[in-house]
Amino acid sequence: MCGIVGYVGQRPAQGVVVEGLRRLEYRGYDSAGIALVADGELVTRKRAGKLANLEKAIADDPLPESTTAVGHTRWATHGAPNDVNAHPHLGHAGRVALVHNGIIENFHALRAALESDGHQLLSETDTETVAHLLELQVASGVDLTTAMQRVCQRLDGAFTLVAVDAHDPDRVVAARRNSPLVVGLGEGENFLGSDVAAFIEHTREALELGQDQVVTISREGVEVTGFDGTPAAAKRFHVDWDLSAAEKDGHDWFMRKEIFEQPRAVADSLLGRHSRTGQLQLDEMRLSDQELRDIDKIIIIACGTSFYAGMVAKYAIEHWCRVPVEVELASEFRYRDPILDYSTLVVAISQSGETADTLQAIRHARSQRSKVLAICNTNGSTIPRESDAVIYTHAGPEIGVASTKGFLTQLVACYLLALYLAQVKGTRFGDEIAEVMEQLEGMPAHIERVLADAESVYALARSHVDTRSVLFLGRHAGYPVALEGALKLKELAYLHAEGFAAGELKHGPIALVEDGMPVLCVVPPEGRDQLHDKMVSGIQEVRARGARTICLAEEGDTSIEPYADDLVRLPRVPVLLQPLVAVVPLQLFACELASAMGHDVDQPRNLAKSVTVE
Ligand code: G6P
Repeated sequence: MCGIVGYVGQRPAQGVVVEGLRRLEYRGYDSAGIALVADGELVTRKRAGKLANLEKAIADDPLPESTTAVGHTRWATHGAPNDVNAHPHLGHAGRVALVHNGIIENFHALRAALESDGHQLLSETDTETVAHLLELQVASGVDLTTAMQRVCQRLDGAFTLVAVDAHDPDRVVAARRNSPLVVGLGEGENFLGSDVAAFIEHTREALELGQDQVVTISREGVEVTGFDGTPAAAKRFHVDWDLSAAEKDGHDWFMRKEIFEQPRAVADSLLGRHSRTGQLQLDEMRLSDQELRDIDKIIIIACGTSFYAGMVAKYAIEHWCRVPVEVELASEFRYRDPILDYSTLVVAISQSGETADTLQAIRHARSQRSKVLAICNTNGSTIPRESDAVIYTHAGPEIGVASTKGFLTQLVACYLLALYLAQVKGTRFGDEIAEVMEQLEGMPAHIERVLADAESVYALARSHVDTRSVLFLGRHAGYPVALEGALKLKELAYLHAEGFAAGELKHGPIALVEDGMPVLCVVPPEGRDQLHDKMVSGIQEVRARGARTICLAEEGDTSIEPYADDLVRLPRVPVLLQPLVAVVPLQLFACELASAMGHDVDQPRNLAKSVTVE
């Protein structure tokens, strides 16, 4: 999400920064900008759309020569993707320019305080607030490094910030918390980038910064401190990747990189959801509490992977909010004359926000006077624009055609919606909602643990290169996970793969089981409504007919051991949240198997990332 470049050195900074932004284009973006320091002034150009628009703006109105600059490609989170919201942002008197990647959770409060002191902010972004705060500091007489340290101590959230001060042209100052930033080390010049791709053609010597650090680069060198100003160490490394590997953070496929980004993506999607009083808040929610209280039915519409997120949402919303939920494929929805009125809430889930089937379905719902809430990853796309409310996921751009971090963050948004409705409708007590929020906030660490075990899943996947047919079984919230696991194998490995509700086995699918057939089983946590024991019975049934069972079961579940030919351990989490950890090994399995079979994992045959025809 967002690309950042900073430079101070001997060469014309404009070329270095614009080239760096081009190298970061793969990250996805919807506007671009540059600020450089010349003769004690800042000069900026920024444009919505592709880098070519920025380059045209520079060609029409050339920039002065400078050897210090920052640049940015923006993936919109706060505010639409337009020229005004594009970065860099300036402080109140135009002395500090700032680019930013991430989310400042407490920016509403900081912005309100600035406005009550007479500051006029031009954009809708959280970034501009920080630019004003930095400028207040340097105007009071401290240097930009100190200013950055002080301001960072006031910020909540995840961020990379890179700033320049017009009165101090020889330094560029950056900071990071939970968001990427690397330093490129040159001779008489230094670089900053979201990743090494930004400067790999100039230097292969780099510094990896730690958490909560501020770095100052100048021609002479690099200084690193903590937010409190104490000197800090950063890890030096040599980049031996080629450019294509650098874009993928050293992974072979964007999909694999995106699978490993999931802990961060889930954490980002949870940021900023609490008000100061501890109430859950969804700031893109434009439906009033009364409108939500009047809702007596919810219909979720989506396609592909997003549809399976909707199936999980049904379990969560019905359990926590006691509102009936239907989940429907968008392509089927409007052709069956669905029963809709003003008390029906239609929830459209779409990573891209452009899927034609989903778009037509919401248009139909609105024509029947239903309210539409979109869950979407792409700010400014058509589906959220045509909806009454939107919850944005903060997965960042997803490049692999098969959705991974898009799915996990959709699940997070669905849980947030369910909890929000429970809060508004009063179907759960505040402490129950707070407890689930706490469990959700613990999920990134659990996902990390699943990822730490990737090698054993890869080995399992590689042992299946000659497999022609795979079944997936699940129950309750594990059923959509089984469907998603099967979809991933179809999409990537072009295998016959089917997901079933384990209880349905005996009504037909068990006839498919042959000797040696792999069956992946998502085992629910132990000890709830006999769910676990019923699943174990299903596993026994397929095993008795010759299946090779690969069981995904929580740590400490020993009862599954006699029936599992292979076992993948999952962290212990509540049953409704289990999809967030259980789907990860299935993604790894499909990615590795497809790779071992020699397929193009990022661009599977016959598929498109965003399907804009019905
Ligand atoms: C396509 C993609 C799938 C995706 C589906 C829905 O089929 O290949 O990965 O799940 O569209 O896309 P959306 O952007 O609406 O979530």
